[in-house]
Amino acid sequence: MHLHKYEKWWLVFGTGTLIAFLIILGIGAFHSGSHPNNSRKTIDYERVEDFEPFNNPGVHKVEGKDWDYEVVLIASAFNYNPAEIELPLNAKVKFIATTKDVIHGFQATGTNINMMLEPGYISEYTTVVNKTGEYLIVCNEYCGTGHAYMYSKLKVVDPNAANDSE
Ligand code: CUA
Repeated sequence: MHLHKYEKWWLVFGTGTLIAFLIILGIGAFHSGSHPNNSRKTIDYERVEDFEPFNNPGVHKVEGKDWDYEVVLIASAFNYNPAEIELPLNAKVKFIATTKDVIHGFQATGTNINMMLEPGYISEYTTVVNKTGEYLIVCNEYCGTGHAYMYSKLKVVDPNAANDSE
C-alpha cells in the first residue's frame, strides 16, 4: 500500500495526539485522583440529619482508620455546614458530603478536592492536604438564585509553624 507523505504525517500526528490525550487523562485519573463520585451510598435527602454521620457535621479527628480526619459536610441552598473547614498540614482527610435539597458542588479551588453533591447520594473523597493556605470553596453546580453566594473556606495550617503568619 502506498501512502502519500502528508498522509503519513497526519497518521503520525493523529496517533500522537491520541496517545498524548490518553496519557493526560491517565495522569489525571490515577495520579491526581480526579474521577466522579462513586455514588454507591444512598440516603433519604429530606432527613439527612437523622442519619450518621450527618447528625454531627464538622471536622472530626478519627482513630484506627486509613485516614486521620473526617469532614462531614451538608450542603443546602445556599450554604455549607460546617461553614468553614480547618485542617492540619499533611493530614489524610476523608470528605463525606451530601445535600439536603438540590444538586450542589463542593470545589476547593487550587486543590484536587472537587465533588458533586446529589440529593439522595453520599459523596466521598479522600485526599492529603499537603499545602498550607486558605482555599476558597465554591459551589460549582447551578443551584438557584443564591448560587453565586454559596461559598466557604478551607484553611490548611501547619501546626509546627510559629503562629505569626497572620
Ligand atoms: Cu449550591 Cu450552586
